[in-house]
Amino acid sequence: MNTRLKRQIWAASGMIVIGFALTAAAVDPGLPTGYWDNPQATQGKAPHDWSALETDLRPEACAQCHSEQFNAWKNSLHAHAYSPGMIGQFPGMGVDEGNSCLVCHAPLKEQRYSDTDDMNRSLSLKLSHPEGYDRHADIDSKALPLRHTGVSCAVCHVRGWQRFGPPPKSSAAIGHQNTPAHGGFTATRAFEQSQFCASCHQFPASMAINGKPLQNTITEWKESVFSKRGVTCQKCHMPDRKHEFRGIHDPAMVRKGLTFELSQNKNSAVFSMASTWIGHAFPTYVTPNVVVSASAMDAGGKVLRNWQWEIIREVVYDDGWKEVRDTRLMPGEQREFIAGPLPEKTTIVRFSVTVIPDHFYKGTYKSLLDGGLTEIPMAHIRHALERAEKNDYLLYEKELVIHRSE
Ligand code: HEC
Ligand code: HEC
Ligand code: HEC
Ligand code: HEC
Ligand code: HEC
Repeated sequence: MNTRLKRQIWAASGMIVIGFALTAAAVDPGLPTGYWDNPQATQGKAPHDWSALETDLRPEACAQCHSEQFNAWKNSLHAHAYSPGMIGQFPGMGVDEGNSCLVCHAPLKEQRYSDTDDMNRSLSLKLSHPEGYDRHADIDSKALPLRHTGVSCAVCHVRGWQRFGPPPKSSAAIGHQNTPAHGGFTATRAFEQSQFCASCHQFPASMAINGKPLQNTITEWKESVFSKRGVTCQKCHMPDRKHEFRGIHDPAMVRKGLTFELSQNKNSAVFSMASTWIGHAFPTYVTPNVVVSASAMDAGGKVLRNWQWEIIREVVYDDGWKEVRDTRLMPGEQREFIAGPLPEKTTIVRFSVTVIPDHFYKGTYKSLLDGGLTEIPMAHIRHALERAEKNDYLLYEKELVIHRSE
């Protein structure tokens, strides 16, 4: 059966059933126990009366009926979590360590490596197929291993072949819903809670370095006004349930989170940055760096003096992780960057903010390349470094005209 025909049949059956489909259960079932277990259980045997399309876990398959979610997800970093920068490190680490990384980057049992050969085959295949799925949602194209799809639909929504999702927008019903495809689905409010993101975006408190784990996003959120106001991760990162997951790699998202102001205070120029719509530290991870610069210039455009600050949680590995400094902006915090005293002939002060989302990884990739790698991992790490370098961007730039009072 071709794809278009399948779509038409499903569309038609959907219309017939929709009238009596949605029935509510009184108690929210929550996520089944073990939903985020490591390792995951396999899906088991597929229900015998399901179509090939319903038992296909690839995002291209889901896309046949859920194109809106697919079209947003495919541009997100979740879709690219089986990344060259990660897998290029695997041959040096071994298959068990590799599988321990997949726990967040491609966690389903069906996505794990069975052995070293399996891993090496996957690394070769990834060189000729940089994307893990068919961007045009063509399910008739040749299937790549499911791990190449990274954090894909099934990772968040499918266990034991059953679909789990939030309560339908139209009815807010919870519990099992009878709908025309894949045996219906189970609706639970767990999908609307920040805790849903925790298994991959929060380390346990026991792994703290200077009081804070390397990944501490949920805790930062819990301590912020956003948790008190019920503004969850989903409200900012999945607005109207859109599967965008935009973060520090997206200049528009970062600008939305910050408020900037320039002013002169006697003989200095003041740049203020406030974290007004970020539900955690800015940035939340130890991997980005944000550089604030100021230059005092004379009327001819000559630079008289420069200033520079960094917004970063810097860590180093030296027989265990150590924190060097933490200058990040906490939710609601406002910070002033003061360029002063200004040299006498200053007429203009230019402020700029540059974001280096993959600062830490760039260093890792460079030292891996220096350390000597075999051909295939080398190709992946080179690709990762190129990509990481392209991710840097200018977030903000503005000039302040200095007024001199005689
Ligand atoms: C043949 C069409 C079809 C395919 C293929 C399909 N679905 Fe669905 N799915 C539906 C229909 C119809 C519903 C009912 C509600 C709706 O329209 O969203 C549904 C509901 C859902 C829901 C619940 C939505 C909510 O409101 O909480 C989730 C989650 C879901 N599907 C995930 C998936 C995933 C993941 C895949 C791929 C592994 C997939 N589906 C494949 C047709 C399909
Ligand atoms: C607890 C979940 C988790 C585990 C386990 C994990 N990662 Fe990640 N990883 C993340 C998240 C979240 C990001 C994105 C945020 C960031 O940049 O730190 C990320 C980003 C990355 C990136 C940069 C983006 C990319 O994909 O190129 C690399 C490289 C990476 N991880 C490698 C690894 C390696 C290697 C391991 C195993 C040693 C590993 N990760 C284990 C959650 C995890
Ligand atoms: C990182 C986890 C994650 C991934 C990956 C993911 N989803 Fe979702 N999905 C969610 C969450 C969380 C919600 C509920 C968001 C909310 O309520 O604000 C959701 C909601 C949905 C809904 C209900 C939408 C609505 O408007 O009611 C559907 C259908 C769905 N997802 C399908 C998919 C499909 C198809 C894919 C792959 C293309 C996918 N999801 C990938 C976490 C995920
Ligand atoms: C009030 C809105 C808001 C809330 C709530 C929020 N975020 Fe963010 N998040 C942002 C903005 C804006 C950015 C971009 C700036 C930045 O990187 O901090 C961002 C960035 C990120 C990043 C990029 C990596 C980095 O180092 O900053 C990740 C990962 C992330 N958020 C995860 C989460 C998770 C998980 C939650 C829930 C615990 C959450 N966010 C809650 C607004 C929000
Ligand atoms: C199965 C693990 C997993 C779950 C669950 C998960 N994420 Fe992620 N997320 C990742 C990984 C891994 C990355 C990094 C992908 C990469 O670049 O390789 C990531 C990246 C992101 C980014 C982009 C960060 C950036 O650097 O710009 C945002 C935003 C984000 N996740 C938000 C969320 C939110 C919100 C939820 C909950 C609704 C969620 N994630 C659930 C694993 C997960």
